[in-house]
Amino acid sequence: MKDLKEKITALKAEKNAVILAHYYVSPDVQEIADYVGDSFYLAKIAKSSDAETIVFCGVEFMGESAKILSPEKTVLMPDASADCPMAHMASAESVLEMKKKYSDLAVVCYINSSAELKTVSDVCVTSANALKIVNALPNENIYFIPDKNLGSFVRKNSDKNILLNEGWCPIHNNITAESVKKLKNKHPCAKVLMHPECTEDVLSCADYIGSTSGIIEYTEKSPEKEFIIITEIGVIYELQKRNPNKKFYFPEPLPVCADMKKITAEKVYSCLRDNLNKVEIDDKTREKALIPLNRMLELAR
Ligand code: 13P
Ligand code: SF4
Repeated sequence: MKDLKEKITALKAEKNAVILAHYYVSPDVQEIADYVGDSFYLAKIAKSSDAETIVFCGVEFMGESAKILSPEKTVLMPDASADCPMAHMASAESVLEMKKKYSDLAVVCYINSSAELKTVSDVCVTSANALKIVNALPNENIYFIPDKNLGSFVRKNSDKNILLNEGWCPIHNNITAESVKKLKNKHPCAKVLMHPECTEDVLSCADYIGSTSGIIEYTEKSPEKEFIIITEIGVIYELQKRNPNKKFYFPEPLPVCADMKKITAEKVYSCLRDNLNKVEIDDKTREKALIPLNRMLELAR
């Protein structure tokens, strides 16, 4: 691993490259990354970095968003098959249908979506800013795609008329309220922190609901010593790094995103060495998809 790390460092310098990683990728990949964060943070880094090449350790929509925001950069994916199933769980046709029904409709698109879906959307959001952005929109009617769970969390906390789409994260949607209650019984003093991709039923057991970054920051600021963490297991690496003396409990079965776990340090090395899996987006798609992404960056400020 030390050898591989040194080889990656040398290649990064040679190619003026940076490595971005989401909190859900494996610890050894997070360890070699220059920036680790949630989807929102990584999108901002992808736009502002002055590196010529970005290696994006994450799933397809993350690499696509980086390329849309920074078309002049080379964006490489360590594994071209790492994709988020939810990113494809809505259709441009359903958006057009909904637009016919509501004249003032705003299409709010979770960043976990294909570039094609972004082209028919008014604004993107991430789990870190969805509520703030929806509330800032002048529109009364909001079509929230693709995640019904994040959408219903926003609906609960907003006065807008939020129309939901049948899409979900297979990992978070599978977590049951029973598994959370079991943990609460076992660790009655632990604070319960959750990602808003969980179902409404599960979210009703939370003390705090936020993005992966929000969850991690909560544990750092809190005087509490024990936390029940209801999101993908990858966050454990950063949680333990920042809080070596605190305890973290995850539900059973462990929430694991198989697509995020496809990224390995070896694949990071080979994609950087051979310029593999370049993200390519045609100009028309890129220009249209840039509008909702830029609007997100503006409204989240
Ligand atoms: P955040 O990065 O916004 O916390 O979202 C989690 C996620 O599912 C990314 O795929
Ligand atoms: Fe998609 Fe869920 Fe994996 Fe995130 S955890 S990338 S939402 S499948």
